[in-house]
Amino acid sequence: MRLERNLGFDLQRATEAAALRAGRWMGRGDKNGADQAAVDAMRFALESAPMDGVVVIGEGEKDEAPMLYIGERIGNGQPPEVDIAVDPVEGTTLLAQGMGGAISVVAVAERGALSYPPGIVYMEKLAVGEAARGAIDITASVAENIRNVAQALKKNVEDVTVVVLDRPRHTDLVRQIREAGARIKFILHGDVAAGVMTAVDNAPVDILMGIGGAPEAVITACAMKCIGGEIQCRLWPRNEDERQKAVEAGLDLSRVLTTEDLVKGDNVFFAATGITDGEFLRGVRYYGWGAITYSIVMRSASGTVRHIESRHRWDKLMRISGLPFTQR
Ligand code: FBP
Repeated sequence: MRLERNLGFDLQRATEAAALRAGRWMGRGDKNGADQAAVDAMRFALESAPMDGVVVIGEGEKDEAPMLYIGERIGNGQPPEVDIAVDPVEGTTLLAQGMGGAISVVAVAERGALSYPPGIVYMEKLAVGEAARGAIDITASVAENIRNVAQALKKNVEDVTVVVLDRPRHTDLVRQIREAGARIKFILHGDVAAGVMTAVDNAPVDILMGIGGAPEAVITACAMKCIGGEIQCRLWPRNEDERQKAVEAGLDLSRVLTTEDLVKGDNVFFAATGITDGEFLRGVRYYGWGAITYSIVMRSASGTVRHIESRHRWDKLMRISGLPFTQR
């Protein structure tokens, strides 16, 4: 089945609505308030999207999330039947603490295409853009991967930039990257943006390495499908208990999950809007008359990647967010 309609624009309206509302919470120190504002706006915008969607990656299980919970039906109920992955705010801490790099993101693929292992919070990730696709192997050493990516990009190893979440669990990874001779860009949060940044034009980073959220890996894979990059992952249990449960559930912890394993087929859409200024996307700019948002919209079937700057007038915004914009 081919998804003829470009759902990307409907998704973009949803990420814009979420970003516009959540951006108001910048620096207020309230992660939950910021996230809730984004969830409300995104949920409203997706309600009328022309699709029969099921949330596969969302705000949590039904009993813990009233909206955008896993299994929730979204859209106007008309075909196509799709899976939806949402992250209304990727980088809630960044947003709440007034730091750059928070984005709102949604991805859609055919029903059954998004695969998400239950009970596993983290995955080990390795991602690159199109020019280095085929040059990575998550089972090989860090040094080998860096050397092969350098070769694929026709760069010196010293000029390769690896983006890594700044976490104690990455101490050994960081040591290995340094020994290999590559540069490191540390990020505090937001490894979806970091992963996708390896694959955009004039990419500011070359490789994403390290352990981050499992849902974020699937969302990153959606973007990679659209933009031609590659991601490889392995499940990463946090402790013995999680490892045990994963094994009992029949999950193979040594299995390499490829881009295709994480998102199947070639009918994938990805949209993201900047909330706070970041290297990937500019944040929302607020003015007396309204606001400007910066988004990226991708579609795998056509290979299009669109950068969209949108002007929003306060007096019209009710229509897309369903909420008055005179208040947070
Ligand atoms: P949230 O927006 O849900 O806070 O996630 C931010 C994030 O940095 C992700 O981008 C990343 O995959 C994950 O958290 C890393 O988890 P942790 O902060 O526990 O290391």
